[in-house]
Amino acid sequence: MPKYYLTTPIYYVNARPHIGHTYTTIVADTIARYRRMRGDDVVFLTGTDEHGQKVERAAKSAGVTPLQYADRISAEYRRLWDQLDLRYDRFIRTTEWRHERAVHNLLLKARDAGHIYKGFYEGLYCVSDEFYVDEPTPEGNCPICGRALEKIREENYYFKLSAFTDRLLKHYEDHPEFIQPEARRNEVLSFVRSGLRDLSVSRTSIKWGIPWPDDEKHVIYVWYDALTSYMSGVGYGDDEIQYEKVWPADLHLIGKEIIRFHAVYWPAFLMAADEPLPRQVVAHGWWTFEGEKMSKSRGNIRLAQPAASVLGVDALRYFLLREMVFGQDGSFSLDSLVGRYNSDLANGLGNLASRVLTMLEQNFGGLIPEPPAAAPNPFADEWREAARAYQQSFDAFAFSQGLQEIWKLVASADKYLADTKPWSLAADPARRDELASVLYNSAELLRIVAVLAYPVLPHSADKIWAQLGLRGSISSHRLENLSWGGLRPSDPIQKGDAVFPRVQKEEAIERMEQMEEQIRAEGAPKPAEPAKPGPAATPAPAAGLPAAAGDGKISIDDFMKVELRVGEIKSAERIAGADKILRLMVDIGTEVRQIVAGIAQFYEPEKLVGRRVIVVVNLAPRKLRGVESNGMVVAATVGPEGRPVLAGFHEDAPVGSRLK
Ligand code: ME8
Ligand code: MG
Repeated sequence: MPKYYLTTPIYYVNARPHIGHTYTTIVADTIARYRRMRGDDVVFLTGTDEHGQKVERAAKSAGVTPLQYADRISAEYRRLWDQLDLRYDRFIRTTEWRHERAVHNLLLKARDAGHIYKGFYEGLYCVSDEFYVDEPTPEGNCPICGRALEKIREENYYFKLSAFTDRLLKHYEDHPEFIQPEARRNEVLSFVRSGLRDLSVSRTSIKWGIPWPDDEKHVIYVWYDALTSYMSGVGYGDDEIQYEKVWPADLHLIGKEIIRFHAVYWPAFLMAADEPLPRQVVAHGWWTFEGEKMSKSRGNIRLAQPAASVLGVDALRYFLLREMVFGQDGSFSLDSLVGRYNSDLANGLGNLASRVLTMLEQNFGGLIPEPPAAAPNPFADEWREAARAYQQSFDAFAFSQGLQEIWKLVASADKYLADTKPWSLAADPARRDELASVLYNSAELLRIVAVLAYPVLPHSADKIWAQLGLRGSISSHRLENLSWGGLRPSDPIQKGDAVFPRVQKEEAIERMEQMEEQIRAEGAPKPAEPAKPGPAATPAPAAGLPAAAGDGKISIDDFMKVELRVGEIKSAERIAGADKILRLMVDIGTEVRQIVAGIAQFYEPEKLVGRRVIVVVNLAPRKLRGVESNGMVVAATVGPEGRPVLAGFHEDAPVGSRLK
């Protein structure tokens, strides 16, 4: 399997995450899911950038230590990514010791090779971008963010960036794909062609950073530190086997304001240490809000949670990817968010799914019909062409274009239904074959749309998949195996709730605005509220969930809300068509519960019988692959593939005993 390692920027912990950070992480999650569907072995890294002057100041004004501050915000990032079901494989914090060691490793390699010397820096600095400014704007401000600059005068260690000008230019020539899109590549080329100056890579006037290896007066420049997280996050200087396997990165996904750090400084730092360069740096544009770049320090931000909980995570993902022409700036508004939700999702894909499923129920008793052998497939060329164009777009990061290719199929299905009028066919028993073929074709096209849309709409695509009665996980579908005819006649469908129920615009906007205010007012990290894959039935209160006491900690009362008991597995069996889960019957003292556990790939069912386990008893029942699960069995998640290891006891613990 080809390996694909992608990263987001590691975000500063000076303030909480907003839609801008969420966008990059959603794009990365989409690429990761898409690449897995193409059969790649994906590693997806994100994390937090915790050192530097900016964080030092934010902590100071909050009256806490920088590490306390970083702990809090870093946890908030992770909590948000989990709520949004963004499935990163690695999360790196630059305050981890393994990271500090990696930074020292890389720095010493560069220094031993003669690329670092001591000097004196006197010049301008932008704290917001942690950037030494050689060329301020005509007004004397930061060329990246436009803010006022500070003068610094201090002894520094310098990196001989100027010595890498020719090697960098040659690299850009030889690897035209290295910097994308083209506009950013040109910007970098002209910057480097104009000649590079050496770069200060240490600070003495701030304390919050990784100490210089043998000169503790200095801390390492925060960008040198931060960029190295792309390597320390996959084992550099710590787990060489992992590092060799995963590095170099295949993609650094970033916002356009940090292109210079990634496309000039970073490859030079790597060349100096004789480490392989990443294959590609891709920069997207900015989300603006009220006409300006959405940014923490400007305060014109929008949060991700309200959209995710009022309209669903998938609606937010769809909007961000569909609305922004990748590479350009895009303007965010709740009005267009809800507009797109209603037009493309509720009235588009959602409506198509519910029409097709309803007609299958009404006319074929909820079974996939058998199309007559001679019936032609009216979409034979069209779906293949759409799938090809979609892949081409996604490979080129043109997500909006790729989504439009999929939505052409939705429009074709709508038109097909309008033309063939299955509701009239249904009225005439003589035309039953025609009806069967129309509904089969529509359902099959819907299946193909669900597969293609999966990377962007993982929860809804999975829901449509299950509603069509398909087994196995949509996420393990390989694009190369996509072919017409995946639905098998006489298989039962499972029509459920609408995937994207229509919402009333003003009401939805008001609810999002209220929630946004509520979250801001709390100031502290939000209590974990699981984001729903579909619209919330009620105005999303955090009811029943433990409220965070300060920095993400919960009280003993909150903990006691979770009822854990000793259970004994009475029987365990595989579930046809689902290779990851087992159906367990577990005695919890008062009753025997049916619990579905995702452990089938690691445990033989026979060996589980008689085993004592820890059961979460008061979890709301839910269905997994159509099988009801009443509770949860506790397991550790181990290693990169997340292998479950069941928790148990070393001494006799009677069935039904409560854990506390
Ligand atoms: O720059 N529109 O962190 P940061 C789109 N720690 N994307 C946006 C955005 C907006 N308005 N605002 C933020 C840093 N982003 C460094 C990175 S990497 C080794 C160190 C996204 O917290 C976008 O990806 O300022 C941008 O590059 C990133 O957040 C900046 O996050
Ligand atoms: Mg920034």
